[in-house]
Amino acid sequence: MPEAQAPEQEFAINEEAAVAPEREIAVSEGEPLVEVTDLTVTFGGLTALDHVSFDIRRGEILGLIGPNGAGKTTCFNAMTGVYRASSGDVRLEGQTLLGKKKHQITRAGLARTFQNIRLFGEMSALENVAVGLDARHRTGMIGAMLRLPRHYREEKQIIERGMELLDFVGIADRALHPARDLPYGYQRRLEIARALATDPKLLCLDEPAAGFNPAEKEELMALIRTVRDEGYTVLLIEHDMKLVMGVTDRIVVLEFGKKIADDVPSAIQQDPAVIAAYLGEEADDVDA
Ligand SMILES: Nc1ncnc2c1ncn2[C@@H]1O[C@H](COP(=O)(O)OP(=O)(O)O)[C@@H](O)[C@H]1O
Ligand SMILES: [Mg+2]
Repeated sequence: MPEAQAPEQEFAINEEAAVAPEREIAVSEGEPLVEVTDLTVTFGGLTALDHVSFDIRRGEILGLIGPNGAGKTTCFNAMTGVYRASSGDVRLEGQTLLGKKKHQITRAGLARTFQNIRLFGEMSALENVAVGLDARHRTGMIGAMLRLPRHYREEKQIIERGMELLDFVGIADRALHPARDLPYGYQRRLEIARALATDPKLLCLDEPAAGFNPAEKEELMALIRTVRDEGYTVLLIEHDMKLVMGVTDRIVVLEFGKKIADDVPSAIQQDPAVIAAYLGEEADDVDA
């Protein structure tokens, strides 16, 4: 693999560098970062999300959990402009996101990963992160094609920043490998690095630990905690209730498109409606 030799030496990573050195973890009392209000999404006759309301506070890790088909991914899709909500509102710092295009939502500060990984397979890990960084940079495609002087400066910055982010998620050693050749766990981490590259105010992760073994899941939860400690706010979708208990500050529970609970993990764990929702799912599994 000649093209993969020693990428880390080439770009001189600073191991001590914080991934978001100048971010402030500003927690304004009583002022949520995101407000989801009465959000409803229907598919034909099916109401996948039914008047769901919750807030996301700055600097927290909010878990969004619920049995399969509860509406978790639909909620993300409505928030990020993939699906159109039939009613309700989603506000980021008071500005509505509904009706905005996906790239406008990214610019506004909302980044996400997908339940089914979506990377540019032929492109290297570093190039995938550069795509996220590009959403923030000024030269854009035209400048890149014309090779304007500013483009060269930005290219150097992109490589340095891209390597910082790959280092942060623990995959800098594979920076020059095509994304499709990376092990599954690396691909999941690369998606997180790419999302962080857009410098989001809110990072939405859709089942980032799906397909991991228990040890890998624990490692990923540790990474998510570190992301939060760097000053990002995180919305974490997870099906496995036990997994989110140790990492989230607060949990919203969906069942059949409705919010059935919204509380701190210790209270969620004892909530009869939540326990019933998950028991019902286990019963379905036994039936199937
Ligand atoms: N694009 C779609 N078209 C039709 N039905 C959908 C679509 N996306 C999701 N659904 C349905 O909406 C419900 C919620 O799905 P989803 O949000 O994916 O659940 P979760 O992520 O909690 O497992 C399910 O009944 C699912 O079949
Ligand atoms: Mg889902």
